Amino acid sequence: MLFTFNLTILTILTIINKYKIFWFERKAKHGKMSNVEDVAKVLFMKAYKNLQEFIATLEKEGELLRIKEEVSAELEISEITDRVCKLNGPALFFERVKGHKIPVVTNLFGSFRRVCLAFGVKKIDELTEILLDFIEIRQVEGFFEKLKIIPKLWQTKNFFPKIIKKAPCQEIVWRGDKVNLFKLPILKCWPEDGGLFITLPCVITKDPETGIRNIGMYRMQVFSENETGMHWQIHKVGAKHYQKAEKLGQKLPVAVAIGPDPAVIYSATAPLPEDMDELLLAGFLRGKPVELVKCLTVPLEVPAESQIILEGYVEPYERRLEGPFGDHTGYYTPQDYYPVFKITCITMRKDTIYPATIVGKPPMEDCYLGKVTERLFLPLIKKILPEVIDINLPWEGVFHNLAFVSIDKRYPGHAFKVASALWGLGQMMFTKIIVIFDKEVNVQNLSEVLFYMSGNVDPERDIMIVKGPVDALDHASSYPAFGSKMCIDATKKWKEEGYQREWPKEAIMTPEIKTKIDKIWKKLGIEEFLKKEVRIYENSHNER
Ligand SMILES: Cc1cc2nc3c(=O)[nH]c(=O)nc-3n(C[C@H](O)[C@H](O)[C@H](O)COP(=O)(O)O)c2cc1C
Repeated sequence: MLFTFNLTILTILTIINKYKIFWFERKAKHGKMSNVEDVAKVLFMKAYKNLQEFIATLEKEGELLRIKEEVSAELEISEITDRVCKLNGPALFFERVKGHKIPVVTNLFGSFRRVCLAFGVKKIDELTEILLDFIEIRQVEGFFEKLKIIPKLWQTKNFFPKIIKKAPCQEIVWRGDKVNLFKLPILKCWPEDGGLFITLPCVITKDPETGIRNIGMYRMQVFSENETGMHWQIHKVGAKHYQKAEKLGQKLPVAVAIGPDPAVIYSATAPLPEDMDELLLAGFLRGKPVELVKCLTVPLEVPAESQIILEGYVEPYERRLEGPFGDHTGYYTPQDYYPVFKITCITMRKDTIYPATIVGKPPMEDCYLGKVTERLFLPLIKKILPEVIDINLPWEGVFHNLAFVSIDKRYPGHAFKVASALWGLGQMMFTKIIVIFDKEVNVQNLSEVLFYMSGNVDPERDIMIVKGPVDALDHASSYPAFGSKMCIDATKKWKEEGYQREWPKEAIMTPEIKTKIDKIWKKLGIEEFLKKEVRIYENSHNER
């Protein structure tokens, strides 16, 4: 009886929700949604079918410039893109690449506006809310609570990838002797790079034991017509799959999707837990399943709408010297031995476009991808460390060098506990310097950060240095991938932490006086005066 009752309620709720979603989708389609937030909350991200659709949107929004002048894939595209990144400029579509028929697009994600357009939101923080919703789904306990979230559960079916039979990415097929990477407009990015590098590849592997898929972005140096390096650093999931395959004495099938839709490209860079398929995140973010097609020569599936697919294997125990490569640290990473990817087949769309990114001294395109990760993963960190208020990974710290973290400090040594916990969380283990602040400090404001970081710290007492794994790209550590990390506790110090005096009060005005001055502020003529004199003040500031 109770079972039938439950079942009836479930069915009714599911039907209501299906209707709700249909209604929202219809409204959104006909442009009747009041604002972007409404649409995003129901449909999550904008589901671009492919890169072509995203590029068309960027063009319509004045975020993409077509370059008609003929340019070379060797250094010239890189120099133009680097300059445009530093000017916070548009995505670039190079129509005529010397010696190639395929056009090149760079800097697709290189501004906050473009990452928002890629994800169909007004602000990146909206994605955070969406992700929190998703986390709630997984945490709900109890029957009636579960009933309430059925509408959301219904949406989760949209996250799982779907296999289709025929795919645009297989319109053109090069097998055997026809495989030739030099026919693709692959870039040489920096003068002392070891060769041509594929810089935006989504590398797909499956765990040889569990079959769970992983997609990671790992650069690939072209070694020959049908061979590349596979630069998965030892901490990354692709490398783990390879190590397992080696132990089993097997070659590891690998497929590389160049230019799937923006959600998949971003997801390949996201630091997800090891056993989570990035396509779930992509499906979740775009609110629609990612369509996959089976590869022609390896037992893997690839996003059907990708521009180009490279299929092949990485043989066990084979390594070749890779690099140097002008990296996102702003330095050349030195040569090192990495596995070799042997290509069995290249497939592509008839209207294929070759997407690439240039990394180098910040700000570059990857800064914005990194900021998406910072915002998107903050709620996840907060679920584990509720005392964390905010995190800022400044560009200049190239994401693994520096983190500013504000916390709600409750006990002595709390800052060191938070830093230790962060070093235990996935790729946060790479963070070389973590600076911890009290909750009142706005860690997004570098002026505040520097003020408290220098003022609140007694180096002997407030610095903790630990040893451990560091980013494989870190050039300062004595050994590759192993070194030390530092936490600077910039919170107010307590007696229990060895501070024997009274912590001084900050010199701030009373609210009463502030309100009084607010009222007469305009009359004082200060703003008018500053408007006239602004250039003089700016100049004197710059000279400093
Ligand atoms: C443009 C770009 C290039 C990258 N290149 C590499 C690389 O060559 N090797 C690497 O291990 N990680 C590289 N990364 C970082 C990884 O993509 C990132 O750590 C990702 O989370 C790895 O996925 P995984 O956890 O599934 O291994 C790159 C990231 C970006 C945005």
